[in-house]
Amino acid sequence: MEVIITATPETGARTAARIVEKLVRARPRAVLGLATGSTPLGLYGELIRRHREEGLDFSRVTTFNLDEYIGLGADHPASYHYFMHEHLFGAINVSPERIHIPDGKTADIPAACEAYEAAIREAGGIDLQVLGIGHDGHIGFNEPGSSLASRTRLKTLTQKTIEANQRFFTSADEVPRHVITMGVGTILEARVCLLLAFGESKADAVAAMVEGPLSASCPATALQWHPRTTVIVDEAAAARLRRSDYYRYVHANKPAWQQDATFSFGGHE
Ligand code: GLP
Repeated sequence: MEVIITATPETGARTAARIVEKLVRARPRAVLGLATGSTPLGLYGELIRRHREEGLDFSRVTTFNLDEYIGLGADHPASYHYFMHEHLFGAINVSPERIHIPDGKTADIPAACEAYEAAIREAGGIDLQVLGIGHDGHIGFNEPGSSLASRTRLKTLTQKTIEANQRFFTSADEVPRHVITMGVGTILEARVCLLLAFGESKADAVAAMVEGPLSASCPATALQWHPRTTVIVDEAAAARLRRSDYYRYVHANKPAWQQDATFSFGGHE
């Protein structure tokens, strides 16, 4: 796991945008896994800016979002369909037919989950998966206790997640209890994972994910098993990492050839 500690969330968002840009320029048909929540907003803002000002082209990119609330349609302001349209898709030139988000209104949840997995496979797999992290260490909506081999499926939210996400609704009562989420096993198949976490409230989850024991009790620790995960954190989210001096040292002392190779998306990959 590579850990990049940036001075501010803004610098972290720009670092993440550079990585995504590099992939999309090297591989115009890239398959991006995308996340919702407040954390990736800076990244999405940067991608929009690069699209508008620097011609970053998303016309052949395919996207798969991690999750969606069951029962919310695309027109519900708290749905992840709505969120993605508002904060990214509506402002870049991605083709609507290449956008995939689990259908929260499906009549047949198991069939929709299987079809989602099949669509990822048919697209050739996810090149880069953007991730945030919940306070309890969840990724996507894989709550603590999720199988580390899980696939796209229905999950029941914990009370903690319902409370954390009630800010997007008028009250906690309105937060759906159930969601569809890519599984931990689905996420682990992405070629590169890029997890962002900013702010003091994420410091414990980040420390557990990077330095804690691998455990389904903190699903994000599964990324320790992933061959190419980069974690971008600001100083506040890095505050409880015991080896933060080492991560800074590694970053400052990368051999020149490696600085560019970390996210080379061409050739053998
Ligand atoms: C939700 C999403 C996750 C996200 C998490 C943290 O639970 N399903 O993908 O990482 O919230 O959200 P935030 O970035 O707002 O802290």
